Amino acid sequence: MEKRAQWGTRAGFILAAVGSAIGLGNIWRFPATAYENGGGAFFIPYLFALLTAGIPLLVMEFTVGHKFRGSAPLSFFRMNKKTEWLGWWAVLVAFVISTYYAVVIAWAMSYSVFAVNLSWGDDTEGFLFSDYLNLSVDPGQTGSLVPGVFIPLVLVWLVTLGVLFAGVKKGIERANKIFIPTLVVLFLIIVLRAITLPGAAEGLQTFFEPNFESITSGKVWVAAYGQIFFSLSIAFAIMITYSSYLPKKSDITNNAFITGFSNSSFELLAGIGVFGALGFMATQNNVPVEDVVSGGVGLAFVVFPQIINEFPALNGLFGFLFFISLVLAGLSSLISITETYVAAIKEKFGISRAAAVGFGGGLSAVLSILFATQGGLFFLDAADYFINQFGIAFVGLVEVVVIAWFLRNLNSFQSHANGISDLRLGGWWKICLGVITPVVLGYMMFDLFKTNLL
Ligand code: PHE
Ligand code: NA
Repeated sequence: MEKRAQWGTRAGFILAAVGSAIGLGNIWRFPATAYENGGGAFFIPYLFALLTAGIPLLVMEFTVGHKFRGSAPLSFFRMNKKTEWLGWWAVLVAFVISTYYAVVIAWAMSYSVFAVNLSWGDDTEGFLFSDYLNLSVDPGQTGSLVPGVFIPLVLVWLVTLGVLFAGVKKGIERANKIFIPTLVVLFLIIVLRAITLPGAAEGLQTFFEPNFESITSGKVWVAAYGQIFFSLSIAFAIMITYSSYLPKKSDITNNAFITGFSNSSFELLAGIGVFGALGFMATQNNVPVEDVVSGGVGLAFVVFPQIINEFPALNGLFGFLFFISLVLAGLSSLISITETYVAAIKEKFGISRAAAVGFGGGLSAVLSILFATQGGLFFLDAADYFINQFGIAFVGLVEVVVIAWFLRNLNSFQSHANGISDLRLGGWWKICLGVITPVVLGYMMFDLFKTNLL
C-alpha cells in the first residue's frame, strides 16, 4: 500500500488550515453580519460560539482525521461502518460550494485587472450587472456563456487543480506558505490605509457601537453560530481531510486554538478595514454610515469599487491589492474544499491522485460553468441560499449528535487528543460538544424549519 501523504512541517499544516478558514466569509460576510446583529455587542455571542462550538468542534474534527487517517467518508467508516454516509454528505456540501465559490474568485480576478485603470467607471452597479456579468432573466439567454467570467474561471480551476495535482506537501502546503503570508501583508496595508482615511473613525464607531438588547434575540445567536461554522470551515469534511495528513505526533488541540484565533483575528481586522472604508465613503457623500453598509457581492463588487474611485491617491494600486487579497483568500479556501472530494474519491475507488483530481475537480469545474452564464448570479444566489440554510449547521448537528450521543466517542477522542497535545482537554470540552452545541444547533434547526416551512 502506498504511504499516506503527510505535511512537511507543523507550520505547513496550520497555514493550510488557516488558509481554508480565512476566505470570502471573513472579508465580506463577517463585517455586515456583526453590524446587523448588535455591533459591538455581537462579540458576546460570537466569542461564546467560538469557544463553546467552533474550537471544540475543530479539536474534534482534527482528532477524527488524525485518529482514523482518512478522508471524511473513510474516517467516518473507520469510526463506525454505519456512519460513512455522514462523510459523504459533508463532501457533497463541499462539492456544491466549490462550484460557485470558484466563480466569485474569478470575478475578483477580473476586478483586480479592472482596478488598475478603474475601468468600472462611476456607475459600479451598472458595470457589474450589465457590463461585466451581462445578466439576463430571459430564458433564451440565461444559458449563454459570459466569456469575461469564463476565462478567469478557467484560470482559477487550473491553479486549484494544479496545486492539488502536485500533492499535499508539494502542492497544498507550498501554495499556502506563499498565499497566506502574502495575504496578511497585503491586507494589513489595505486596512492601515482604510483606517487613516477621513471619516474612518465614524465608520469604526458605527461598527463597534454596541446594542446590548439585541443579544437577547435568538436570531443574533443563530447568526453568531452560522458565522463561526462557515468561517472556520467546520462540518465540510475539510478539517478532517487536512488533519488526516498530520504526522503521528501532532499537538492537535493547540493547532485548533491557533487556527480558531487566527481566523477570528483576520475577521476582526476585516471588520475594521471595511467599516473604516465605509466611514470614508459616507463622509465623502455626506450620508450616515448606516446608509452605505452592505455585505456579500454588493460590498465587494459594487461598494468597494466606488470607494476605490474616491480614494485620495493611488486608487488603482489599492483597488488591485484589495481584489488580489480576495483572490488569495478565496483560492486557499477553494483548494481545501476541492481536496475533500478529491481525497474521498481517491480512497473510495483506489485511484491515483492525478485521476481523482481529473474526475472530481474536473466535474466541479465543468459544473461551475453554469455560474459563468448570463443567468449565473441567480443560480449562484439559489445555491448559496440552499447551502447556508440546509447544509452547514445541519451536518454539524448530525455530526456531534452521532459522535457524542450515539457512538459515545467523546471519551476516547479526549484521551487521543490529550495523549499527543500539550494543551489538555478537560470535562468542559465534552460538555460543549455533548450538550451546549447540540442544544444550540437543534434550536437553530427548529427555528429554520419554522421560518421556512410554516
Ligand atoms: N471558511 C471560508 C470562508 O470564511 C469559507 C469556506 C467554506 C471555505 C467552506 C471552504 C469551505 O470564506
Ligand atoms: Na473564515
